[in-house]
Amino acid sequence: MKKLFLVLGISVVIAACGGPKPGEAEGGEDTTAAANQTATAATTNADTSATKTGTEPTAAAPAGKGATLIAGSDCGTCHKDHQKIVGPAFEDIAKKYTDADVDKLAKKVIAGGSGSWGDIAMSPHPALSEDDAKEMVKYILTVK
Ligand code: HEC
Repeated sequence: MKKLFLVLGISVVIAACGGPKPGEAEGGEDTTAAANQTATAATTNADTSATKTGTEPTAAAPAGKGATLIAGSDCGTCHKDHQKIVGPAFEDIAKKYTDADVDKLAKKVIAGGSGSWGDIAMSPHPALSEDDAKEMVKYILTVK
């Protein structure tokens, strides 16, 4: 009895698969598309991890964080990467300073002030933590 059910079951499966021939062709295409998608996803994942190992997570994270913090603050009102507006272009700040100036510049962002680039003063940012200000400055110094 068990064998009979098994045979019947298999027949049903075969019938289901062998049924609509065009549908089967479509199914085949879908599988290929899905496989392609999977391949793309796999490639993307591989790239991401490659980027991470390539740039060193510790170095990449602060830069990304700084850029995000700047985007969320008012810096863009007066600064652009490659163009002087009210304040100097980040590119020019990066040319003038090195990593050794990060502390000093972070304090300046928080306190505001003028004198380094001219008489126009930067507004103070007292709500910024020193760590966040440092992340921002670290990002600015990477702008080329
Ligand atoms: C109201 C306009 C304004 C805003 C907003 C502003 N800045 Fe500035 N920033 C300036 C000006 C003007 C200077 C040049 C100051 C000087 O000559 O010392 C400057 C200079 C700087 C410097 C170089 C400081 C130095 O001593 O050379 C850094 C770094 C900087 N800004 C970062 C930031 C960051 C980060 C933000 C956002 C949190 C920000 N700025 C927001 C106007 C602004």
